[in-house]
Amino acid sequence: MNLATDTQGCGLTTEGFRRDLLRGLSVQRKHLPSKYLYDEEGARLFEQICTLEEYYPTRTEVGILQRNAPEIASLLGPRCNLVELGSGGSIKTQLLLDHLEHAASYVPVDVAQAQLLESSAGLALVYSNIEVLPVCADFTKHFFLPVLPPDSHRTTVFFPGSTIGNFEPHEAELLLRHIAGLCGRGTRFLIGVDLKKDPDVLHRAYNDSDGVTAEFNRNILARANRELGADFSITLFQHHAFYNQQEGRIEMHLLSECPQTVRVGDAKFSFAQREAIRTEYSFKYTLSEFRCLAQRAGFDVARCWTDSKQWFSVQYLVPREDIEGSLVKASNSVDENPRSLFG
Ligand code: AVJ
Repeated sequence: MNLATDTQGCGLTTEGFRRDLLRGLSVQRKHLPSKYLYDEEGARLFEQICTLEEYYPTRTEVGILQRNAPEIASLLGPRCNLVELGSGGSIKTQLLLDHLEHAASYVPVDVAQAQLLESSAGLALVYSNIEVLPVCADFTKHFFLPVLPPDSHRTTVFFPGSTIGNFEPHEAELLLRHIAGLCGRGTRFLIGVDLKKDPDVLHRAYNDSDGVTAEFNRNILARANRELGADFSITLFQHHAFYNQQEGRIEMHLLSECPQTVRVGDAKFSFAQREAIRTEYSFKYTLSEFRCLAQRAGFDVARCWTDSKQWFSVQYLVPREDIEGSLVKASNSVDENPRSLFG
């Protein structure tokens, strides 16, 4: 593998975790950023969630990608660069790489370093003519894209899994702008977006009967104990996930079973009985809600694929000012001044 020599070290630092945890537990409505759910143990538990019958997003998205891979590949074009945000085990990526015409590079970006390096090494073996350039970074912060192969063409950012749903809509908009800024003009997105549906289906997906999601949720406290020397009694916090219909989001919380005090270094935090720590939002969209969000970020939805139940979508976003996008539109509509496109 042609490993990017500067993997930017860390992704998430212990100090960053400490700072965000102290800050998040000091406020009235306690919360922790969901990115801290994914240490090595969390990444393993999340992979297990993806195999659960109740957790429909993974298999639904994989089905959409499988059915439409040839068309997706032709949109991405030959010699493309594929940047993946939150690549995890890069399982969905293989579906794309198998159909792409000589992709030039694959740039997985993830905070979980061990998993990132392991899966990158595996992919580099299978796809020996693709440059695999892993970047260990928190994609919500500034990071450097490695130097891409000189003869490569378009860059597409693959952002599957509906990870975009972890951000509040205004943050999601900023994130799309931020990533497009880092990856350069003309960057497109291939993004997985979970859709609004029967709340019972949503509820089951985040409250699986095997309790894997509960364990995944509680692992954020176990991680604080491991990394920050905190003294959370893991069993005294209860997994609580529900669909907030008003806001269109799943909310995942940890509820204190009893009044208790927790120490993190010199700091002490007290919890009332049933007091919550919010650990994740997972926003769900309608197709038109997400189209508006993309447009606010400067993108048009050029193509959108869904499953037969319309539970999940994979959307291809192109920059609104993109010259080819404009050409497509111009040829589809009554064209008032075609030459202005080339001026
Ligand atoms: C990986 C963020 C898309 O929100 O569905 C799964 C994470 N949380 N079960 C999601 C998650 C609880 C997942 N994302």
